[in-house]
Amino acid sequence: MSQVTIESVLQEGRVFEPPAELAAGARIGSMDAYRELVARVEADPDAFWGQQAREQLHWFEPFHTVLDWSNPPFARWFEGGSTNLAYNCLDRHLQGPRAEKTALIWEGEPGDSRRFSYRDLHTQVCKAANALKALGIGKGDLVALYMPMVPEAAIAMLACARIGAPHSVVFGGFSAEALRDRLIDGGVKAVITADGGFRKDKAVALKPAVDQALADGACPTVEQVLVVRRTEQPTAMLEGRDRWWHELVEAQSADCPAEPMASEDRLFVLYTSGSTGKPKGVVHTTAGYNLWAHLTFQWIFDIRDDDVHWCTADVGWITGHSYIVYGPLSNGATTVMYEGAPRPSKPGAFWEVIEKHKVSLFYTAPTAIRAFMKSGREVPDQYDMSSLRILGTVGEPINPEAWMWYRQVIGHDRCPVIDTWWQTETGGVMISPLPGATPTKPGSATLPLPGIAADIVDNEGRSVGIDEGGYLAVRRPWPGMMRTVHGDPERFRKSYWEHIIGADGRPLYFAGDGARRDADGYYWVMGRVDDVISVSGHRLGSMEIESALVSHPAVAEAAVVGRPDPLKGEGIVAFVTLQAGLSGDDTLGSELRRHVGSEIGPIARPDEIRFSDALPKTRSGKIMRRILRALAAGEEVSGDTSTLEDRSVLDALRG
Ligand code: PRX
Repeated sequence: MSQVTIESVLQEGRVFEPPAELAAGARIGSMDAYRELVARVEADPDAFWGQQAREQLHWFEPFHTVLDWSNPPFARWFEGGSTNLAYNCLDRHLQGPRAEKTALIWEGEPGDSRRFSYRDLHTQVCKAANALKALGIGKGDLVALYMPMVPEAAIAMLACARIGAPHSVVFGGFSAEALRDRLIDGGVKAVITADGGFRKDKAVALKPAVDQALADGACPTVEQVLVVRRTEQPTAMLEGRDRWWHELVEAQSADCPAEPMASEDRLFVLYTSGSTGKPKGVVHTTAGYNLWAHLTFQWIFDIRDDDVHWCTADVGWITGHSYIVYGPLSNGATTVMYEGAPRPSKPGAFWEVIEKHKVSLFYTAPTAIRAFMKSGREVPDQYDMSSLRILGTVGEPINPEAWMWYRQVIGHDRCPVIDTWWQTETGGVMISPLPGATPTKPGSATLPLPGIAADIVDNEGRSVGIDEGGYLAVRRPWPGMMRTVHGDPERFRKSYWEHIIGADGRPLYFAGDGARRDADGYYWVMGRVDDVISVSGHRLGSMEIESALVSHPAVAEAAVVGRPDPLKGEGIVAFVTLQAGLSGDDTLGSELRRHVGSEIGPIARPDEIRFSDALPKTRSGKIMRRILRALAAGEEVSGDTSTLEDRSVLDALRG
């Protein structure tokens, strides 16, 4: 790694040193300390991870092997050991004064809030775990959560972890169809949901989508549905299958010892979109994930005992798993969970939460920051946000303008901005500044965390030169890495470990992102190099949306691409050819957008649908997406079009 010297950083333009006060008390308080730590890990990674695992987690049984990488890409971490994530997040904090410390602050949409101490949360989780047992759920049974942002979502996740039943959280904004696919793929035994949730001042029903997903015996493995009462909407309950959470959970005993889980026992499955086929069930396992969520949270937020951490993600995404629930609680921190969202009628909603709960660590997405910029600094300026210490961003590249606005307007030039790069697959953050050590540059995720052998490489796995673009890759396993694709280990190998093979014959982890590295070794992540589209930081596969479109009877063929969007990062443009005899108009366009919404979820609705008689294809029949991307962005089609079968389609497709 090239050394980051202040001189060289300064030549780069805007560079921001960590605040001296923050660096003084930080765990890693200088670039020298960072480099020392990196050197220590590099000298003996196994010794380092082994020591961290022993020091940071509680073990029922100690492990005998730190890493077994004898059968790549299937890593086994901390073999021989047994631990429990819920124990690490709750029980171990009950011994001293931390028992009464606030673990979870929940801010509900209509203004109701709830606070749980570590002791309260422990009690609730034990009761919920006993309720799951009463439903016949045990170790190894997959439980799906389809929930609004209510405390019961976190409680249910922890209850599953406590009894060793892996969870599969499905984002509450996904449709019944998308839920059904995930229930079937997982072989889910029970679903935990709610009557509804509050979205933008309105109660939105959720349970009917579960009924729809389960209709006609579509998911034969699902035996039970547990329903949290949130909105008190009239809700149909199916006798023998559906139970109310409050009736079942409240009646349980608060005594439920945590199940000792082998390190490599499954902890959860979380579906994410790739460039091919249906979404993949990313599998994370117990000890490695726990260590990574714990350690990264500690490093990137340099957590202190009086911090109040707020991550604005939904628990349906990996960010919510790792940085609303598991990372903060494993560290004994106070975490905020917010049911609402900013909107025109309440543009200051986020800042109100920060002021009210004295949030010190704030973690959000570039899309949200860009939306705030649009409504002007007058809004945040009305709030007292002096409690803030560190500002994080995640999910998509952050443009330097948004980065600067975040730092100046929200952080008043006091708080470091940490741009964190990672993925569902990586379990936790991989590339990020350390707030007390790393000089930051607007738009760069800066440097890999200690122990992360990240690189930017060409097709042969050779490191590319300074400022040359390449593929973001990781050369060595890390504890939080995904272990497999649920039910399809071959797909795991093919999707992540076959694209780049190093000169030594070893596979590298292929992240699917393009990046460059500057003269200081700083990483600048450019975005996906595959057919994954990132809409407001939500990951969607072109093929998923195409399949949804062609499932409509009017559609013959569809190709979907992303185009740059000033607010959302990327927008979705669909090129559609219709069945013979049909012609496209606005009404059909709206109908198709609705159709995609009900097949996948509102976030997948195309921004624009362009009808045409043909799509640009090669002579062998492959759709030329490069051309479609240029057309969608309103750019001239450049580069080689000699393989294009019929050049006249280009004119028809220009918007
Ligand atoms: O393209 C990268 C982008 O989000 C992808 C991962 O998406 P997902 O698995 O849904 O996880 C999102 C939250 C961790 C990556 O492949 N991405 C994530 N963080 C950044 C980013 N792109 C640029 N900069 C980031 N900080």
